[in-house]
Amino acid sequence: MEFKKIFLPESELPTQWYNIAADMPTPMEPPLHPGTGQPVGPDDLAPIFPMNLIEQEVSQDRWIDIPEEVMKFYKIWRPSPLYRAYGLEKALDTPARIYFKNEGVSPAGSHKPNTAIAQAYYNKVAGTKRIITETGAGQWGSALSMCCALFDLECKVYMVKISYNQKPYRRLMMETWGAKCVASPSTETNAGRQILEKNPESPGSLGIAISEAVEVAANDNEAKYALGSVLNHVMLHQTVIGQEAQKQMAIAGDYPDIVIGCAGGGSNFAGLTFPFIRDKIHGRNVEIIAVEPSSCPTMTRGPFAYDFGDTVQMTPLLPMHSLGHSFVPAPIHAGGLRYHGMAPLVSQLVMDGLIRPEAIPQMETFKAGITFARAEAFISAPETTHAVAMTIREALKAKEEGREKVILFNWSGHGLVDMAAYEAYLNGKLADHELPAEEIRRALKDIEPLPKPRQYLAGTI
Ligand SMILES: Cc1ncc(COP(=O)(O)O)c(C=O)c1O
Repeated sequence: MEFKKIFLPESELPTQWYNIAADMPTPMEPPLHPGTGQPVGPDDLAPIFPMNLIEQEVSQDRWIDIPEEVMKFYKIWRPSPLYRAYGLEKALDTPARIYFKNEGVSPAGSHKPNTAIAQAYYNKVAGTKRIITETGAGQWGSALSMCCALFDLECKVYMVKISYNQKPYRRLMMETWGAKCVASPSTETNAGRQILEKNPESPGSLGIAISEAVEVAANDNEAKYALGSVLNHVMLHQTVIGQEAQKQMAIAGDYPDIVIGCAGGGSNFAGLTFPFIRDKIHGRNVEIIAVEPSSCPTMTRGPFAYDFGDTVQMTPLLPMHSLGHSFVPAPIHAGGLRYHGMAPLVSQLVMDGLIRPEAIPQMETFKAGITFARAEAFISAPETTHAVAMTIREALKAKEEGREKVILFNWSGHGLVDMAAYEAYLNGKLADHELPAEEIRRALKDIEPLPKPRQYLAGTI
């Protein structure tokens, strides 16, 4: 009989994370201090991150051991199953063989706990009492709340206001796990008050929420800040996904021609693809596709430049694709993809031609989410529908060309807490958002005076 899914036993859980920094064809340029423009050292980051995570952030070691305590909690939801999407293949009448890695099986419903549990652990051993963070759609905030509960840490989450209002159940998940959730911009911080003074109706953005969380963490000796994407150590923790997928694909007797992930800050994409990009660097022929929303086209149209990770310019300058730290993306439902920047590691690999970035408009992604739900039963998170839509594009291309392509994508999370978005789509209330070129041009002006990386590339806005 055909298999539908491949489970790995717990004994096959990866015991190390894979650090792609050790294999990068072009070495990364350093983050720069927001005040001096000089490379930041570990001490500059110490007010907001514990030293053990800072060490991982700058590590060049190819393999980093996963601590026992983290392995113990990974076993709650890992190894995650790899599915063969027979239903989708049939619905599309494609000769492509489609596989997806189901990261929606974690208790929070996405890949985010893979790094949240590691960050909670490293903070606990470093003596942190509370962790402050931001969240877009609420996936990261709920994942960190869950992991803080497991390690008995306090947790406070600044949630982008538009999502706070659209997704009350995410907030309730955080509160159930014992965290405090605040709508951002808030009046609690200087950063929030500054934004609200200019625009009392601000829907918020990840950049603004990061500013609030960093400000609070930096002013509290017992607190540290945690980020759910973008940074090197976050990409690192997610590589358990791709390592498992490689073992599972081998059991299936296939190797992917194409590996796909949606990309907001880049972490689920990196998690699945970095082990495959390692193969690609060593000569394997595999295409790697990162999918972003057309209304927030960071990699496809934004410059590769130095920019701040947050809106009020408190974080270090990172070398990355960016639409400008003051860019507020259109209020699409894929809240986790509404970020102005992209992980420096992912950005550099795009620059090196190892990753092909693609942008897809909102309506196509929801149509894909519906097709997938009716063919495969699982209801995808709005972010995840971007990967589904790209998979459908590639599967239909394989059909046109009459080629048996093997496609693997990351099913980064379920959409059971996002049904308001599906309701809007099903009732004909969703639309594609025009690329706000004027807004991007304005935001890009703000980064013109900043230092430029060696490989600076102007965008195509
Ligand atoms: C289900 C899901 N997929 C993808 C993303 C995008 O984040 P990243 O690019 O870091 O994976 C998010 C972010 O919230 C998410 O919740």
